Amino acid sequence: MLHHIRAVSVPILTDDFRQELLEEAQSYPLRYINNSMGSGENEVKQEMYLQNQLHMGDAFGELLRDFQTLFNDSISGCGFFDAEVVFNDWIIQKYEPGYIGITPHRDRTDYRHMICLFVLSGHGRFYISKDRAKRDSMEIANLPGDVILMPGPGFRGMHHRPFHYLEDITTGRWIFGLRHDETKLNGERDNSD
Ligand SMILES: [Fe+2]
Repeated sequence: MLHHIRAVSVPILTDDFRQELLEEAQSYPLRYINNSMGSGENEVKQEMYLQNQLHMGDAFGELLRDFQTLFNDSISGCGFFDAEVVFNDWIIQKYEPGYIGITPHRDRTDYRHMICLFVLSGHGRFYISKDRAKRDSMEIANLPGDVILMPGPGFRGMHHRPFHYLEDITTGRWIFGLRHDETKLNGERDNSD
């Protein structure tokens, strides 16, 4: 399915657990970034708060364990992935209303298998597109409590990295991102674009 539609959004968090995750997310100091990477038609602009030094306390620790177990017990065994999926990269991102969000980009090549973005709060419009010019954009409708799942290299033997972007943030949007970072397994790092 993801081969054709490139991303999905699935309701996964109960409201109580989502609230616990949000409170834990709000306990971290966040770092503001407002920058651009690349130049010309390859430019990517972003504006958000983030924190990726997480100790994975009660709620985040539980989410990580449960989601990792879900993959280990069911999804990893389905043959969709060419190696074990290890969710070893964690990030909180917060987008305020009126922020530009992030313009079309692809995640780093070493974010493999499956990128998982849990929506803890707030509203913004998330799109997959064919390129940075937003051609063939498709909105992935999402609400607080959903997880957006997007394939990375190694999913079903492909090397697919969909362009995606976030805009029209209307209420403070908190995201928890869970990724498999190959560099943390073998010490190498590729560049994003
Ligand atoms: Fe991204």
